[in-house]
Amino acid sequence: MPGRVYHAGPLYPTFFHLTSLARQPPENVRAVTVRERPDLAETAWERTQDVLPEYNNHGDVLNVYWPRLTEEQPDFQFHLVDARDGILARARTIPLRWDGTVDDLPAGIDGAIARGFDEGDANVLCALVIMVPTDLQGGGLSRIALEAMRDLARRHGLESLVAPVRPNWKERYPFVPIDRYAAWRRPDGLPFDPWLRVHARLGATILRPEPESLRITGTVGEWETWTGMAFPETGEYWFPRGLAPLAIDLDSDRGSYWEPNVWMRHDL
Ligand SMILES: CC(C)(COP(=O)(O)OP(=O)(O)OC[C@H]1O[C@@H](n2cnc3c(N)ncnc32)[C@H](O)[C@@H]1OP(=O)(O)O)[C@@H](O)C(=O)NCCC(=O)NCCS
Repeated sequence: MPGRVYHAGPLYPTFFHLTSLARQPPENVRAVTVRERPDLAETAWERTQDVLPEYNNHGDVLNVYWPRLTEEQPDFQFHLVDARDGILARARTIPLRWDGTVDDLPAGIDGAIARGFDEGDANVLCALVIMVPTDLQGGGLSRIALEAMRDLARRHGLESLVAPVRPNWKERYPFVPIDRYAAWRRPDGLPFDPWLRVHARLGATILRPEPESLRITGTVGEWETWTGMAFPETGEYWFPRGLAPLAIDLDSDRGSYWEPNVWMRHDL
């Protein structure tokens, strides 16, 4: 079954888009769901498996639910492909119930995926991840993937798209609290963070910073393998591409990390 066609022209051809204009996405980008094209799932995984850092593959809660997304919700998982079915992005979402108040937001991405699977009455779509292959980043594909998510929500009669956004430059400022980081703005008023900015350009608003969104715990040895670092004593550590510090406790042989996110809402 053919997927939707998205036109790739810049929405805001302003000075601030010049970085993206350097490399334009291909024309006739299509979004195809896993139900429509299950044969692309493996290739999509291979093309994007190195996009997030290794530690991100070990969520305490996320990993319990993640394999069920493609098995039980194939209509809400999709890929962006070009005219030759080349993978341009891999995207995961889950429908869930939300009453529209900040207080009723799930407890981060962990709470979102649990609510999506464990409770019924879904009325909104929740973005879980968009991954663009490393060699294609910086070409404007993320906006097209977000538009595809919004379109998916509309087609299923869902009221809005919410997202526990993983701010991709937070790794440069791991010791800054997420509520302060999320409030940083450029002179043009848009968010300082590039990924928050993509959402904001499409009209999304920030609902709530989420300091404890994605829980990752492991033994000290596991964290050393995931990060390529040694942790010789108990304490807090910076580590490569971490969005927040890692707490190491040698006595209990535990490394504990909470990835911060920022809840955003797109009205449809
Ligand atoms: C975040 C991500 C989806 C952006 O996708 P993309 O198609 O490369 O982004 P775009 O070309 O649309 O650019 C969007 C903005 O991000 C910036 N950007 C693009 N690649 C970037 C990178 N690797 N690092 C930092 N900023 C980047 C662009 O300059 C642009 O900012 P602008 O407002 O100055 O124009 C992509 O980098 C990615 O897959 N990252 C790893 C997975 C991840 O973190 N996903 C988001 C959490 S769900």
